[in-house]
Amino acid sequence: MTKVLFVCLGNICRSPTADGIFNHIVVREKLDQKIIIDSAGTGDWHIGKAPDSRTVAAARTRGYDLSVLRARQVSARDFEEFDYVLAMDESNLSDLQRMKPTTYTGHLGLFLDFGSRGDYREVPDPYYGGHDGFELVLDLVEDAAQGLLNHIRNRAH
Ligand code: 4NP
Repeated sequence: MTKVLFVCLGNICRSPTADGIFNHIVVREKLDQKIIIDSAGTGDWHIGKAPDSRTVAAARTRGYDLSVLRARQVSARDFEEFDYVLAMDESNLSDLQRMKPTTYTGHLGLFLDFGSRGDYREVPDPYYGGHDGFELVLDLVEDAAQGLLNHIRNRAH
């Protein structure tokens, strides 16, 4: 069993997108009994809320349903449960590094380190921008999600 947690700031745009897309791939590959997925935010503003309507709409046009997800805040206890804690940007990562127990033996890092594109290390926050930002999130997440699955598969052998 491998457990993966995606983390952004609000848990209503980027990390729910990663959660939904990675889940879609994992179900398609029939690995949903082996890989558990969740997402959370470093901030507390949107706890209990569904993802941003622009995020849900953009994802739906590519066949992903994010509407069932609800935002929650990340906590130090998540490090007891998750083998991979993957941050969307450097700011999320530094917040998580401060929260991480010294005993954590899993992988804390940037999600896009599993991607194949050289042009982005972080998933840019689309919240205050236009539609293109939401499409870019989908492009970056689809690429890195496939890379993450390949990585986990290779480790399992
Ligand atoms: P996310 O985007 O971190 O990708 O969920 C944001 C959502 C909300 C806010 C910031 C970023 N906010 O400031 O409320």
